[in-house]
Amino acid sequence: MANIIVSPDNKIAKLKEGKTLLSYLQELETNIHARCGGRGTCKGCIVKVSANKNLSSLTEIEKKAIQRKGFRLACQAKITKEDEDIFIEIPLYTKFKILERGKVKRIPLNPFIKKMPTSLGERIFWEKREIGAYDGEIYGLALDIGTTTLSMVWIDLEKGNELFVSSMLNPQFRYGDNIIDRINYAKIGRQKHLERAIREGVNEMIKEVPLDSEKIYELVIVGNTAMRDIFVGNSVEKLGESPFEPITLKPVNKIANELNLVLNPKANVYAFPLIGHFVGADALGAILATEIHTKTEISMMIDIGTNTEIALGNKDGIVVTSCASGPAFEGSGIKCGIGAVEGAIQMIDITENLEINYNTINNAPPIGICGSGLIDILANMLERKIIDWTGKFIKDNKKFVISEKNKIFLDGEDIDNLKLAKAAISVGAKFVSRDLNIEIDDIKKLYLAGAFGTYINRENALKIGLLPNIPLERIEKVGNAAMEGARQALISKEKRREAEEIPKKIRHIRLEMEKDFHDRFVEELCFEKYRP
Ligand code: FES
Repeated sequence: MANIIVSPDNKIAKLKEGKTLLSYLQELETNIHARCGGRGTCKGCIVKVSANKNLSSLTEIEKKAIQRKGFRLACQAKITKEDEDIFIEIPLYTKFKILERGKVKRIPLNPFIKKMPTSLGERIFWEKREIGAYDGEIYGLALDIGTTTLSMVWIDLEKGNELFVSSMLNPQFRYGDNIIDRINYAKIGRQKHLERAIREGVNEMIKEVPLDSEKIYELVIVGNTAMRDIFVGNSVEKLGESPFEPITLKPVNKIANELNLVLNPKANVYAFPLIGHFVGADALGAILATEIHTKTEISMMIDIGTNTEIALGNKDGIVVTSCASGPAFEGSGIKCGIGAVEGAIQMIDITENLEINYNTINNAPPIGICGSGLIDILANMLERKIIDWTGKFIKDNKKFVISEKNKIFLDGEDIDNLKLAKAAISVGAKFVSRDLNIEIDDIKKLYLAGAFGTYINRENALKIGLLPNIPLERIEKVGNAAMEGARQALISKEKRREAEEIPKKIRHIRLEMEKDFHDRFVEELCFEKYRP
């Protein structure tokens, strides 16, 4: 029997008739970016193959997706013969533009990790639990586990200063780009693969830092509900079935050794509490950092992603929800859509004469449009009367071409997909406002958290109705606020306790349970500002 050999790492497995190439690439834990989870819609699993004759013939999906010979979609190509080795090459990925930090607030240093004098000399303790001898440094890590990216800050816990900041793509992308695909993967008995992928990713980031990782005595993590629970080893199967709740909302403390992390083996691993359903530890971290829960004025926090979290309220109470906005603003399901990679069009302007100006990430030749560019295009097409308030092309156009040479365009189907994502978010903001009986004008501050919120053009987001219609000057971009929350809870006992108290003030609403949700959602599938 022959083998499948995968480069760049020359990983090998025995060929088995009927298996897809993607299943090998997942089992061999390669860096394949199967964003759609194998449904054939994302083109993320394109690979170069050596022996096409030993594979099933091109599917209709592949005929549309692949323009060059020798390439296949790994999720479509199946082994048909086992008598000859097949060589697979995974293209190297361009670097994602990853947001690592949020606004940093100075707070007094009072971590859980302390050094104390003992009869054996100075020793390190987490509360009363002894970890080991003090050996010159005490480090801690704050980690934000996003569905797409991991970000980490390395902190000196004796001085409180940051030493290193790093980030990488979440290695779980080989199992799909969204939470549901990953939960489904866990449900077929493979949660351990997901756990290993994410912990190895974190270990990889730690090993890149030229400091002694044995001197890391605490790791504080935030992340959405599924990411947090996969990292700490709580089963996420229940998240995939009604009522879609995690096994516990409580904070989790574990020992590094149990999770195979390359920290001090006895280091404490602390995971923030969850709020409920898909509103996770990241939303709680962002609330802690934006301090919505301490203010008299009403503030809103929106963290736009595949799942968008929205929190609204003040010191007297906060309402939160999560909206299934989907990956359209991350480029999935949009024909020329792409993540925030080098060459992605990130900003577009269409002049009165319909001239198109754009710029790309790292000024590389354009290869597609990322989320911030997609918002710009929609707003500009509405302003220039290329589409009407329902999103339909006003003239007979079937598509709007941004670059003829690079074959980059937006068509009616793409616009419909973007409308769905926009409606999911805008209806969420309306429901939390209604729940608190708040008029939009009562919102004195809108914090835009997360990478996407940081890079979007606020004016254009207001034009298409993605954000509640409040004055521009009240909208503040706060970067990775969830990570800032984790940092605060790492260096301050008081902040950690404060974070644990916040859920008592929070009411969580589930949009799909609201009886008029469907009608309100349909109303949001247009661009109200441009209604004639
Ligand atoms: Fe194959 Fe998405 S197209 S995983």
